[in-house]
Amino acid sequence: MIIAIDGPAGAGKSTVSKIIARKLGFLYIDTGAMYRALTLKAISEKINLQDTDQIIEMARHTEINLINTKDGQLKVFLDGKDVTLKIRQPEITKLVSAVAKIKEVREMMLKLQRKLGRSEDSVLDGRDIGTVVFPDAEKKFYLDAEFSERARRRYKELKDLGQDVTLKDIEEDLHNRDTLDSTREVAPLKKADDAIYIDTTNMTIKEVVNKILDSL
Ligand code: DC
Repeated sequence: MIIAIDGPAGAGKSTVSKIIARKLGFLYIDTGAMYRALTLKAISEKINLQDTDQIIEMARHTEINLINTKDGQLKVFLDGKDVTLKIRQPEITKLVSAVAKIKEVREMMLKLQRKLGRSEDSVLDGRDIGTVVFPDAEKKFYLDAEFSERARRRYKELKDLGQDVTLKDIEEDLHNRDTLDSTREVAPLKKADDAIYIDTTNMTIKEVVNKILDSL
């Protein structure tokens, strides 16, 4: 079974998806982490992010692995190295949309996402899971929340990770990513027609999780 959870940044997708996967004993696949890992590699190798050909070439020679740990966490490996924390740095967050918009890069990630998702029952979170990656997913959800609430959540999440960020930085970043992710040509952020829409603005994590579990 495939459960697709899409929506904009800060809507609560990853927190909720992780809990749902753990409760059901499903694999959790964070597709945003894949684009983040590629962005980290491009920056580390000093690749100009406007140089699409070079990014595509780099992606062809990159190995990304997602490992679900026993305690319900997700570890992200880039060419064998654990980059779980590094990919959450603000610099990556700011630049990831430039990498995620490249058609050939998306095709490579799509293959990986389908391979992982077909290997066992899975919860995938992203932007295009219900529309492009698994249009036949048994269950689709689109999580959303008001902009100010999404910014507040992201701010808290990063502060808890010990990052030195301001709410203004977060708002700017969210605004840019919302625009880039929903207006790009390939697989833009979009609710699938058959996805259940959940506005999480005034809901607790537990309420969102229960609503999803009740709809299965
Ligand atoms: O969910 P996230 O913030 O970790 O995602 C990082 C970026 O990756 C996001 O700004 C858009 C892109 N992304 C995407 O294009 N398609 C996906 N399925 C998941 C993420």
